Amino acid sequence: MSKVTVVGAGFVGATVAQYLADNNLSDVCLIDVVEGLPQGKALDMMQAAPITGHDCKIVGTNDYADTKGSDIVVITAGIARKPGMSRDDLLKTNAKIVKDVAEKTIKHSPDAIYICVTNPLDVMTYLTWKTTKLPASRVMGMAGVLDSARFQTFIGMETGMSVQDVRAMVLGGHGDLMVPVTSYATVNGVPLSEFLSAEKIEELVKRTQNGGIEIVNLMKSSAFYAPGRSVVQMVEAILKDQNRLLPCAVYADGDYGLKDVYIGLPCVLGKDGVKKIVDIKMNDQEKEALAKSAASIKENIDLMNKLLVAV
Ligand code: LAC
Repeated sequence: MSKVTVVGAGFVGATVAQYLADNNLSDVCLIDVVEGLPQGKALDMMQAAPITGHDCKIVGTNDYADTKGSDIVVITAGIARKPGMSRDDLLKTNAKIVKDVAEKTIKHSPDAIYICVTNPLDVMTYLTWKTTKLPASRVMGMAGVLDSARFQTFIGMETGMSVQDVRAMVLGGHGDLMVPVTSYATVNGVPLSEFLSAEKIEELVKRTQNGGIEIVNLMKSSAFYAPGRSVVQMVEAILKDQNRLLPCAVYADGDYGLKDVYIGLPCVLGKDGVKKIVDIKMNDQEKEALAKSAASIKENIDLMNKLLVAV
């Protein structure tokens, strides 16, 4: 059995652990600073195993020694958004937390692959990469799978067709400037423009860009079912060496004309992590939107570096 450490036993972390076990994908070490929380959730999940019918071991802990030898580390620790808060408002608090988590986990699992989930996503993924000093191919962020799933959901709702036939990718940063690539969106290969007007598509794009905050406004806390499922799709692609083409926050080193930034791009995910970044042709509007998104992430990386030096 592979071992996945999930840092943060909040709603997202616990949902990741649950889906990993329910799908018989790996043993799970669920770790949190709060005493009793990961232990309680882990025990509860273990007690679901006889009913679900899996043999995954789920351990809850506050001790990083228990994370030893993890194949994958998923970082969900940090504070989540409250109504009125942007993802970037979280920057300062979460940078301290993520840096600490990355330092403590890499000591026990020097060969792990990291998936960062903490917001602001692209900046926290960059920080994870810097802190762990791993090759960039082994550090990525989860956002594109989630944002794409949201876009696909809205397309399914609007066309009345099964989401199972809807394909769409959302690239760029995990923020208001994310780039739903409408030119590649299809229902089973048929371009979206065959089914929906340009205005309607634009409406769905806007709703996707606000997909996270729409949920925060409804339930006064951050989403976790779809985010958790999205992480597990990435974990599965890595553990089973599936070579899936998924949009993930990856390190751009000249790709798409972008340099020294973590941002959502299509990549092939397998046992070594990000095997390659796939260069797709985009129209001028999409290219411009991607560059704008990258510029905003870079500003926040600079801001984070200043904040961390000041700590
Ligand atoms: C969202 C958070 C997880 O988009 O960023 O719901």
